[in-house]
Amino acid sequence: MTETRGRLANRRIALGITGSIAAYKAIELIRILQTEGADVRVLMTPSAVEFIGTLTVETLSRHPVDSDLLSLQGDGRIGHIAAAHDVEAIVVAPATAHWLGAMANGLASDTITAACLATSVPVVVAPAMDGGMYSHPATQANVARLREFGYEIVDPENGVLASGMTGQGRLAALTRIVDAVVEALDGAPAAVTLPAAAMPAGFAAQPVDSTPAESAAASRMTAPSRNDLAGRHVVVTAGGTAEPIDPVRFVGNRSTGKMGIAVAEEALDRGAAVTLLLGHHSVEPPDGAHLVHVETVAEMQAALRAFTPPEGPLFNILIMAAAVSDFRPRHVADRKLGRGHGLKLELEPTPDLLAETAERVKAAAGAHGRHPVLVGFAAEVGDLDRASEKLRAKGVDMIVANDVTEEGSGFGTDTNRVTIYATDAPPEQLPMLSKREVAELLLDRVVVRLGGTVRPDTAGAADNAPNPEAPVSVEAGR
Ligand SMILES: Cc1cc2nc3c(=O)[nH]c(=O)nc-3n(C[C@H](O)[C@H](O)[C@H](O)COP(=O)(O)O)c2cc1C
Repeated sequence: MTETRGRLANRRIALGITGSIAAYKAIELIRILQTEGADVRVLMTPSAVEFIGTLTVETLSRHPVDSDLLSLQGDGRIGHIAAAHDVEAIVVAPATAHWLGAMANGLASDTITAACLATSVPVVVAPAMDGGMYSHPATQANVARLREFGYEIVDPENGVLASGMTGQGRLAALTRIVDAVVEALDGAPAAVTLPAAAMPAGFAAQPVDSTPAESAAASRMTAPSRNDLAGRHVVVTAGGTAEPIDPVRFVGNRSTGKMGIAVAEEALDRGAAVTLLLGHHSVEPPDGAHLVHVETVAEMQAALRAFTPPEGPLFNILIMAAAVSDFRPRHVADRKLGRGHGLKLELEPTPDLLAETAERVKAAAGAHGRHPVLVGFAAEVGDLDRASEKLRAKGVDMIVANDVTEEGSGFGTDTNRVTIYATDAPPEQLPMLSKREVAELLLDRVVVRLGGTVRPDTAGAADNAPNPEAPVSVEAGR
């Protein structure tokens, strides 16, 4: 199903991927464009195919990739000419120095240049390369020529490059590229008929009206500012980890995943692309989220690391709501242990994933300043005194703390009473709310932090809920 609610709803976009080290980011770009409602078909240069292959791209886009200029489509049409006429915009990301040169000179030696030459729709180009390559007069002249064609250039950013050096050459943030596509199409009427292409199941939008709850969520989404997370990628961790003792038993916890899943649902409803890193859970994750299932702390760590490569995190917001074990058995038996004479279990501490991820994200951001919003959940017992210390020690922007021993506020409940600790505001104690309402108010604060606006319909989402725009006067633990 194609998303019908985003800023690119019903739009047909061609994405051209060229042979840059940043080609892997185009995979995520497909997903964000789809979350914005676009039907994305992909053209690739042979070099890009060398870098990332076509399987993932074809699976995600639900269209065959056109990378061979000299072969015809299955229906006998010429691929790049069909693309030139079937789409409403072409975005080339990443664009190599070589491709810029070919395009500037009208050399139709790959399907992307050929489609750009044949089309009359807007073209958005996001270059990515080594800083020296980008600043070279030849590249600059090519970029200037493309601007003369009326192409929108999304300038690369300053930062650490694949070579380890710094300079201007990093592919622009994907949200900037998506914004440029939206802007390029602004004013052009949206296509009325949708092609048969569907979003991949893992990235499908939530159904609009299959249950009353979903209908309510969908109608709320028609509110003017419903899309305040559109173009953002939110990674949420949820559920509990399970550390094996032997092939049968594990050290686990009582997490059901409800809180993190509520955050994922809320983020989806607000237009975000959502990846859910999901441990043990007993509630259904939302259809629209891209699911990554994890079992142990080590698997959660690997999943988080995959989204925080050295050259920068692949998300705008990270919300870590999973209950991650603090300990794991030092030795795991490879056979089921018998009752025998009992069992002495030696436990070792697990890595602190919140602190580690914050450190990685900030290290990558060092060169270019801003970093994604980082939020951790802290399950406390009794008072929440440790939460402010955690906020500082973990290096995150917000800690959402709750007392899991309080009735209605622990594992498996539908409600939660939390206090939000933030680096830029006094602690804010929320009343007992449904987990979905907690998610909503939390994301309101995250949106403000991202520099967006808060949806007007969320103030008063619950009785006594603080107005997110009003000064905060409540104290922690009161
Ligand atoms: C590991 C590696 C990374 C590269 N990254 C880039 C890059 O980021 N930008 C770029 O302009 N060229 C890069 N190149 C060079 C291009 O791959 C090369 O110029 C290729 O011919 C581009 O082909 P295309 O423009 O047809 O895709 C890289 C080459 C290698 C081996």
